[in-house]
Amino acid sequence: MQTVTTLTELRQARAAFAGRLGLVPTMGFLHAGHLSLVERARAGCDHVAVSIFVNPTQFGPGEDLSHYPRDLDRDLALLESLGVDLVWAPPPEEVYPPGFQTWVFVEAVTAPLEGKHRPGHFRGVATVVAKLFSAFTPQRAYFGQKDAQQVVVIRRMVQDLNFPVEVIVCPTVREPDGLALSSRNTHLGPAERQAATVLYRALSTARQAFEAGERDAEALRAGLSSTLASEPLAREEYVSVAHPETLAELSEVGEAGALLSMAVRVGHTRLIDNIVL
Ligand code: PAJ
Repeated sequence: MQTVTTLTELRQARAAFAGRLGLVPTMGFLHAGHLSLVERARAGCDHVAVSIFVNPTQFGPGEDLSHYPRDLDRDLALLESLGVDLVWAPPPEEVYPPGFQTWVFVEAVTAPLEGKHRPGHFRGVATVVAKLFSAFTPQRAYFGQKDAQQVVVIRRMVQDLNFPVEVIVCPTVREPDGLALSSRNTHLGPAERQAATVLYRALSTARQAFEAGERDAEALRAGLSSTLASEPLAREEYVSVAHPETLAELSEVGEAGALLSMAVRVGHTRLIDNIVL
């Protein structure tokens, strides 16, 4: 496994690969969710590259950039053991040199949900992913369903800017009690960790209602909110029952199905989760 930090080294290393390159973009502090993307890339591509970059431009002023967990040595050992070929772990000034002023802004699908509650977040995500695509020129790129709106935004950008990249979406990896794996889970105290199971409980209850025939989106939203309200340590930021591609809120779940998603604060930690019906 080759580990490089500069763009020049990355381009050189990438040029030596023949066949299909799969890219897994990450912010590091890897867990089994990230590793499932790497394994999927390993199975589907001739070479696998991983980026480890805590992207400052996708963090808002009040967010946890300086507290974002990092452990590069552990990450590299994990990736090496999975047979990754190339890791790019650049310093911030390699990605955003002085004078940087070009941004990728995806419009309508970044307006609701996470985009509404984290202004500027998806501008940072789309810009850095566009830069990763241009630096690695991968044939395939792997993303987790955990960040459902991120997937919608990146698919839109790939279409609109004609990136010759196939976007592969992998299922959310969960703890045995349903909590979606996230580097933010490390911030939860023991009581909060227990309370955090309410997100998946709410989504599962909504799925049961849907399977029993409920199609009224407002009833599904009300069910999500009431399960969240039953957990005293959890505070709902939003719940949503939206069209899976446009992300517009639905009044009724129809042929296209629905993306059920939520953001919830448990103590100081902000958690998101979703399922697709
Ligand atoms: P990060 O949060 O490190 O996540 C990297 C990738 O792992 C994303 O595609 C994310 O959806 C996926 N992932 C995270 N938790 C997962 C889980 N429990 N199951 C399955 N996949 C999971 O997402 C980002 O970084 C950044 O926004 C990035 C795309 C790297 C751009 O900076």
